[in-house]
Order: sequence, then C-alpha cells, then structure tokens
Amino acid sequence: MASIEFQQVTQAFDKNVIIKDLNLTIEDGKFTVLVGPSGCGKTTLLRMIAGLDPQTAGSVLINGKDVTRIAPGQRGVAMVFQNYAIYPTMSVRENIEFGLKNNKVPKEERTRLVESISETVGLRPYLDRKPSTLSGGQRQRVALARAMVKKPSVFLMDEPLSNLDAKLRVQMRIELIEMHKKLGTTFVYVTHDQVEAMSMADTIVLMNQGKIQQEAAPETIYHHPSNLFAAQFIGVPPMNIGELGIDGVKFGFRPEGAILSKEQGEAHYSVQGVIATREMLGSETIYQVKSGDHSFMIKCTEDRFSVDDIVFLDIGAEKLFFFGEDEQVINRDDRRFADYLNVLRGQRHG
Ligand SMILES: Nc1ncnc2c1ncn2[C@@H]1O[C@H](COP(=O)(O)OP(=O)(O)OP(=O)(O)O)[C@@H](O)[C@H]1O
Ligand SMILES: [Mg+2]
Repeated sequence: MASIEFQQVTQAFDKNVIIKDLNLTIEDGKFTVLVGPSGCGKTTLLRMIAGLDPQTAGSVLINGKDVTRIAPGQRGVAMVFQNYAIYPTMSVRENIEFGLKNNKVPKEERTRLVESISETVGLRPYLDRKPSTLSGGQRQRVALARAMVKKPSVFLMDEPLSNLDAKLRVQMRIELIEMHKKLGTTFVYVTHDQVEAMSMADTIVLMNQGKIQQEAAPETIYHHPSNLFAAQFIGVPPMNIGELGIDGVKFGFRPEGAILSKEQGEAHYSVQGVIATREMLGSETIYQVKSGDHSFMIKCTEDRFSVDDIVFLDIGAEKLFFFGEDEQVINRDDRRFADYLNVLRGQRHG
C-alpha cells in the first residue's frame, strides 16, 4: 500500500507546459479517480507516477519517498492501459505469469499466485485458453490480472474499460470496486466519463487544462461544486446555468432541482416556459424548457407534460447556486448570496 504526493510538479513537452506547479496528495488505499475532458493532462499525471515520463520540475513521492530517480520497474506500481496488450499466442495462464517469470519468481509461488489472482478476477475456468477465444471483458480481466499478480502497492489504470460495450462496462465497474475492496491497494483510475468517476471513486480529482478544479468525494462535488466547471462537468444532464444580469454573475440549479407544473407555485424563483423537447427514459423524463433567453433541462420522475405545453418552473432558494465573474461558487454564507437571491426573486414571473 502507498500514498502518492505531487509537490509543485510541472510537466512540459518541448516548450509546451501541460501541468504547472501541481500539488496533490493521493491517499493510501483509496480509490482515486482522475477525471476531466480530453487533453486535460490525466494520462500525463499517471505516467509521472509510473515514471514513464519523469516530470520537468518538482517532486513525486510514493509513500513519502521521492521517486524521481527510481526506475519505473522499481516503483511498486502497475499500470493497465486503455489498449491493453495481451500476448495472443500465450494462454491466459502464460499471460498472467509472464511478468513473474521475468522477475524470476519460483515456479511453485508462480502457480499459487496465478491461481489466486485468476480466482479474484473470475478467470479460473479460462486459464488454459488463448485470448482469441475470450470475450472483450474476459481479455480486459487478463490485463488486470497480469498487473495484479505483481502485487503492486499502487495500481494505475488509464481508461481500462473504454473498449468495452456499455453493459460490460457497468459490470466491470462493479468488479473493480469489489477488487479494490479485496486488495486494499491504492487505485488511481483515469477516465473522461464522469458517470464512471461518480460510481467508483472514494475521491474524485477533477482536472481541466492541467489544473485541479476540485478534489473531493463524489457527493461533495455534486452537491458543493467549487466552480462553474465542476458544476457543469459532474452530473447528467449538467447543472442548468443562467445569466443573473448583474456583476457577470450566473445562477444555477440541477435538472432535478426544479418543479414543473401547470400553475405557478410559491417557490423562490418561478418563471414561465414552454416544453421544447421531451425524452422519456423509463423511470424519469427529461424536458427541455425554453424560457426567455434561457433553455433549461428538467428531470422529472413523472411523465406529465407534452411538447409545446406552457409550464411553470419553480426552484426553491435551497436549490440555487451562484457563480461570480471569476466562475468560483459563491458560498451560501457570503453576503452576496442573499443579494443575488433577491435579484432572482425580482425576476419572478407574475
Ligand atoms: N509526449 C508528449 N509530447 C508532447 N505533448 C504531449 C505528450 N504527451 C501528452 N502531450 C500533450 O499534453 C496534453 C495532455 O495530454 P494527456 O494525454 O495527459 O491528456 P488526457 O487528459 O489523458 O486526455 P484523453 O482523455 O484524451 O486521454 C495534450 O495536449 C497532449 O497533446
Ligand atoms: Mg489519456
């Protein structure tokens, strides 16, 4: 087991600075998910931990020890990539055993390790098969087993499920959560899929353009986003954002934070709108409501409206967020919060 620490880390390729003065602590034994849009620097961060691309400046510590001068193979980390490479000519057993043979682990120990790991990932019945006879999910498990068998103290995974179909991905997510519980090893998992991040992480590290936007438990990021980026990246559909009309301030509310009705309610902010689109998803329906210059996505558990219906959109004060001109969230105990609530109330319909 191991913690990971970035201290004032900068990474530049040629003259391009990708990450600048980054500070981050990844806790020992936790399932940490790095999430953010394509190109934000997630893989770059992972490769620095693994030692594949050493940082330009600053220090990376594993378990409190500066690993800058330690070769990738000596860091006690294992990495699983998106395009996992498994050897097609070797059996499942040989694939898993490969790294152990290289490290001169004795035969008996190898057999014991392979059997125990293949049990963990559910590959026991397939040990003598060739990868070509396995499903995509089973192959992905071979790649995971091959990394796990080396007993790393840090497990790095870079979008390991992105080649799988939607159903298998959901299943593998659950398996990874269970695997993490069983192993108790530090997991650092990279994805650009916020649903994956929300469902698996103990801690989410949300990145954009090489900078950490927020680092918190999934429910904290969801309920207390620290800025506009976090508010709009986490959650489907994303948080609705509107212009308050003063000070460059924006207001926001979650798609499930509004109540739709035919008659105006008593809520703090209430406007009239028209249903522009309706998506029936089974247990819930998502309506797009156009109101003046704004377009809001509203999630309802009941499917009561049709396209072109005139509706009222009611949002209680406790469901509202405000973001300053600097795009940072305005805390509820900030004096400005009450002022902005009053401005919105003044914009109430009727
Ligand atoms: N070896 C390299 N040489 C030059 N530029 C690089 C190199 N590796 C990464 N970059 C650049 O660094 C930035 C971050 O890349 P990175 O691969 O870390 O993104 P990412 O967050 O993993 O994105 P994705 O979700 O698409 O995988 C990109 O602009 C990329 O072009
Ligand atoms: Mg990447």
